[in-house]
Amino acid sequence: MDWKFWLRRWDRQQERYLPFREQSFNAMVQCVAEGVRGRGRALDLACGCGSVTERLLKGIPELQVVGVDIDPVLLKIARGAFGGDERVRWMERDLRDPDWAADLEPESFDAVVTATALHWLEESVLLRVYRDVAALLRPGGIFVNADHMPLENRVFSDAGRRLYDEWFEASADRDDWEGWWEAISKEEVMEEALAERERRFGRRKTHEFMPPASWHIQHISNAGFSSAEILWRSFDEAVLAAWK
Ligand SMILES: C[S@@+](CC[C@H](N)C(=O)[O-])C[C@H]1O[C@@H](n2cnc3c(N)ncnc32)[C@H](O)[C@@H]1O
Repeated sequence: MDWKFWLRRWDRQQERYLPFREQSFNAMVQCVAEGVRGRGRALDLACGCGSVTERLLKGIPELQVVGVDIDPVLLKIARGAFGGDERVRWMERDLRDPDWAADLEPESFDAVVTATALHWLEESVLLRVYRDVAALLRPGGIFVNADHMPLENRVFSDAGRRLYDEWFEASADRDDWEGWWEAISKEEVMEEALAERERRFGRRKTHEFMPPASWHIQHISNAGFSSAEILWRSFDEAVLAAWK
């Protein structure tokens, strides 16, 4: 199985929805690099197949990263793609479980990062995850969240949506979400992980909670961060960085 191929194909699929994804990752890595200054420990929340982890390790080669995600298929690709890389560990965790961070190793991190994921959590869960993240970070640690954070002015937000829709249509040579899942489901080696995924999510309704950046800034600050601000933005897509 060419695991890196599937990671790349995942990236191309995600970029169909997020044409400036790589730019937002660059902003994220730059910020973490400044905060950890070389060595350090980072947590990649809802890591998928390890896209953010890959960029972090490229930009900060001495970083140690723990990736957590609930999806057995994406984690299997991550494990395969990073092979024996001793800087990385993958852990299966559900952020909706209040104890998801109870047995994380290490117990404290210099940076926590996450991309295109936390909007899948319900409001009450997200608020608790923000507090969990604050507790996991050392003082002076950094939290970076890249996600859909719609602009509050509908006209501006709609303008962005049109631009993104045009890009989506123009990049039909890439998988969309369903196409990617259909393609991976043809890989025999994934059979068990796909069956497990189906058992877990089969009947689960996908939840979407997407408040504006001002909501995130307020609640991240309340969770125990001394500052929180927008690091990068393209219409409804934003990267928010917070300092503990
Ligand atoms: C759109 S993907 C983004 C993955 C990766 N961060 C990236 O940018 O490529 C959203 C991720 O959130 C994960 N996720 C959703 N709900 C979760 C939960 N309750 N606990 C852990 N991970 C979750 C999914 O499994 C998926 O990997």
